[in-house]
Amino acid sequence: MRWMLGAAVAALCFAAPGAALAQEAALLERGRYLVEVTGACGNCHTPMGPQGPLPGRHLAGGTVFDEQPFRAVAPNITPDPETGIGRWTDAQIATAIREGKRPDGSIIGPPMPMAFYRGLADRDLAAMVAYLRTVPPVRNAVEKSVYRIPLPPSYGPPVASVAMPAEDPVARGAYLAGPVAHCLECHTPMLPNGHSDMTRLGAGGMVFRGPWGETVGRNITPHALRDWTDAEIERAIRTGVSRDGSRLRPPMAFWAYQHMSPRDMGDLIAYLRSMPAQQ
Ligand code: HEC
Ligand code: HEC
Repeated sequence: MRWMLGAAVAALCFAAPGAALAQEAALLERGRYLVEVTGACGNCHTPMGPQGPLPGRHLAGGTVFDEQPFRAVAPNITPDPETGIGRWTDAQIATAIREGKRPDGSIIGPPMPMAFYRGLADRDLAAMVAYLRTVPPVRNAVEKSVYRIPLPPSYGPPVASVAMPAEDPVARGAYLAGPVAHCLECHTPMLPNGHSDMTRLGAGGMVFRGPWGETVGRNITPHALRDWTDAEIERAIRTGVSRDGSRLRPPMAFWAYQHMSPRDMGDLIAYLRSMPAQQ
């Protein structure tokens, strides 16, 4: 009996490094999925040319958002120590993403979707940080943003801890549409103060101008999608083809969402169908 116990402990000790490696690999894979697929951080942080993302510049910043209230420039979020976030600690990167605060205490302004990222679960935030550390560093100095509106002193009290959503399709879908993929940011009308009108969640109406011309975030509540099949909604999200077969234009990140897992897609659609209809 004694010997068996010893052997069991020994087996555990030998298994531990393998288990730790497997855990690390799972964390990185989750982080990759969140950053590259559902979160589509590259939609803003990777410079785009006429053919899409510029080669060799993944997450290296430089995209300019020229709007009435600001001229924001997406920063370099690769691990380059000089021009990226290579010198930041894990905790500092996490605080930047979820609290909108840099290591020097300055506030990160729009269009970084801060209102939504505050809801990111601890585990997912840790996975995103771990993954960002592994992307190839790119040297690319980016100019500073200029804000003609005052930025808040903070986006709220420090976020202590956020749990993963409950194992329920609608709860998981709500987490995806909000904190993870910020679908609701683009699909909710914006108030004159620059915040989303939370009483009209999903009603559409936000205007996007860019090399694609002008697009308007569409109504994605049951008011608009009632007659769509699940397959039609999925096709729109994954491939950018609307119900009538017309092609949807940027800035929605179809190129990233095409790789969304079937379970996440199902949960997302369950959530969209559960939303209060908005005219
Ligand atoms: C809609 C566009 C947009 C999306 C999507 C977006 N960001 Fe940002 N992000 C910005 C802009 C613009 C800034 C800089 C704002 C400023 O200058 O105050 C920024 C700032 C940052 C910073 C601070 C870097 C620095 O040097 O100041 C980090 C870190 C960051 N983003 C990470 C992420 C991650 C990770 C994701 C995906 C989960 C993401 N962002 C998604 C636009 C975006
Ligand atoms: C960066 C902004 C942005 C994000 C993020 C975004 N969308 Fe969109 N979406 C748009 C715009 C703009 C259009 C309309 C494009 C056009 O008119 O060509 C659109 C179109 C759609 C359509 C097609 C509606 C129709 O009538 O054809 C659906 C469905 C949709 N989005 C759902 C989503 C979901 C779900 C997510 C999150 C996974 C999401 N969107 C994320 C901006 C965005």
